Amino acid sequence: MKTLAFDVYATLINTYGMVDLLQRYIGDDKAVPFATMWRDKQLEYSFRRSMMNRYEPFYTCTGNALDFCIEAFDVSMTHDQRFSLIKRYQNLPVFKDVVNALKSLNKRDDLQLYALTNGPLVEVEKLFEDVQINQYFKDIISADEIKKYKPDPAIYQHFLDRTGAKAKDSWLISGNSFDVMGAATFGMNSVWIKRSEKQQMDPWGEQPTSIINSMSELDEIL
Ligand code: 2OP
Repeated sequence: MKTLAFDVYATLINTYGMVDLLQRYIGDDKAVPFATMWRDKQLEYSFRRSMMNRYEPFYTCTGNALDFCIEAFDVSMTHDQRFSLIKRYQNLPVFKDVVNALKSLNKRDDLQLYALTNGPLVEVEKLFEDVQINQYFKDIISADEIKKYKPDPAIYQHFLDRTGAKAKDSWLISGNSFDVMGAATFGMNSVWIKRSEKQQMDPWGEQPTSIINSMSELDEIL
């Protein structure tokens, strides 16, 4: 039996799914760079909070990062616009390759599927319900349960504790290099989903077990 740990944001759920709103609010030129900085800052804040033992739920990192970007880009945003962006973040779309891939993986009885996320349970549950993928997962395991964010080794250990799986039989599947490296260093197998040529792996010498370009390739490699 292989136990799969799916990352959520930027793996199943598209963190650029609010770019249309940003285009309207701050213009076409700034929308994508703004969304990129928003995501980068959100992650940075989560890492720093984890290191500093100042855990706050992931949505706090998202909100703080948004406020940082509004100032960094020197754009004005009304209260309603800011609110709409935050609402959209709770309602982001799935990547196109996700639903069919989950459907076929879920049919296999040698695999068990979990989500392993820095997002809090209620928020991720709602996202999954909106895009109708919650039925494919045995459970959602959240950083919120131990107040430590990925890639702290404690969260990968927590995954093993919660599922009863062994590291050698567990696979972290993520579009995020930090997550892939975290799991690989911890001793789990890892699959990096590299959907775009622009995505880079960190040059630390550590490599994922597999690299794929689409979730549809998972069925074959697992
Ligand atoms: C996650 O879903 C933050 O993408 C990361 O855990």
